[in-house]
Amino acid sequence: MYVCLCNGVSDKTIRQAVRQHHPQSFQQLKKFIPVGNQCGKCVRQAREIMQDELMQI
Ligand code: FES
Repeated sequence: MYVCLCNGVSDKTIRQAVRQHHPQSFQQLKKFIPVGNQCGKCVRQAREIMQDELMQI
């Protein structure tokens, strides 16, 4: 499922990036994948997915 339509980033991509890079914040996650850097509509959902994945690591 696409989370960020502007950049074509899926929930799977976010979860993989979190597992690989262990970001401390959403700002850090954005350094690895282009999510939430345009219209910003996806930020809330992307952040929730990031936090959910961090709790499972
Ligand atoms: Fe992610 Fe627009 S949907 S920046």
